[in-house]
Amino acid sequence: MRAVMVANPKGGAGKTTLATNLAGYFANQKYSVSLCDLDRQQSALRWLAFRAPELPAITGYFGGNQMSVSMPQETDWAVLDAPAGFQGYKLNDYLRAVDRVLIPIVPSIFDMAATEDFLNTLRRDLGGRLAKIGIVAIRIDPRTRAASMLEEFLRHFDIPIVAYLRNTQNYVNVAAAGQTIFDPPRARNKRDLEQWQSLIAWIKKK
Ligand SMILES: Nc1ncnc2c1ncn2[C@@H]1O[C@H](COP(=O)(O)OP(=O)(O)OP(=O)(O)O)[C@@H](O)[C@H]1O
Ligand SMILES: [Mg+2]
Repeated sequence: MRAVMVANPKGGAGKTTLATNLAGYFANQKYSVSLCDLDRQQSALRWLAFRAPELPAITGYFGGNQMSVSMPQETDWAVLDAPAGFQGYKLNDYLRAVDRVLIPIVPSIFDMAATEDFLNTLRRDLGGRLAKIGIVAIRIDPRTRAASMLEEFLRHFDIPIVAYLRNTQNYVNVAAAGQTIFDPPRARNKRDLEQWQSLIAWIKKK
């Protein structure tokens, strides 16, 4: 089993959107995949409840009440959706247990300021193992001023941006139906699927 955690203590950064779509990618690639919801609000599991049984299967798992690391082992991939405000020793335990950490960031000064402390904590707690952390720039066009601001901000941290995901209602629309951009019909999500390729390559890298 390989595990990917999606985390950012800032609310509304795009964690659940990223986690559900990543689980959808693995399911459509015929991997067994568990979506582990660490959030007491259970947004990811609520989304999963809408998913039609004929779509590629994603197994739901609730890990929001346990004091220590809790995720299923009998699965090819586990995707963990962390809650807003996730920090402290519990965050630390999960950071050690997973293979990759994806941090979605919306490039606004408010979001970047809120994420800065988190990145400093990661740098302190993970020491030399920062390599498993990747940033996902959310609701952004890579050619804009917002993108350069984000790149400038991240220069201090030595953490790569592994994907830029544009602002689109496609994510909102598929989510409302328990789906992901990787589920058929995929044609209308072509541009978004392309934007995910760099992220997927980084996740799968040994
Ligand atoms: N690339 C995108 N384009 C447009 N809307 C997006 C995009 N990514 C996320 N959203 C929307 O932004 C909102 C917040 O996203 P999401 O719920 O995934 O964030 P979160 O980090 O899980 O929030 P919380 O901290 O409350 O758990 C949702 O309405 C989602 O549909
Ligand atoms: Mg969420």
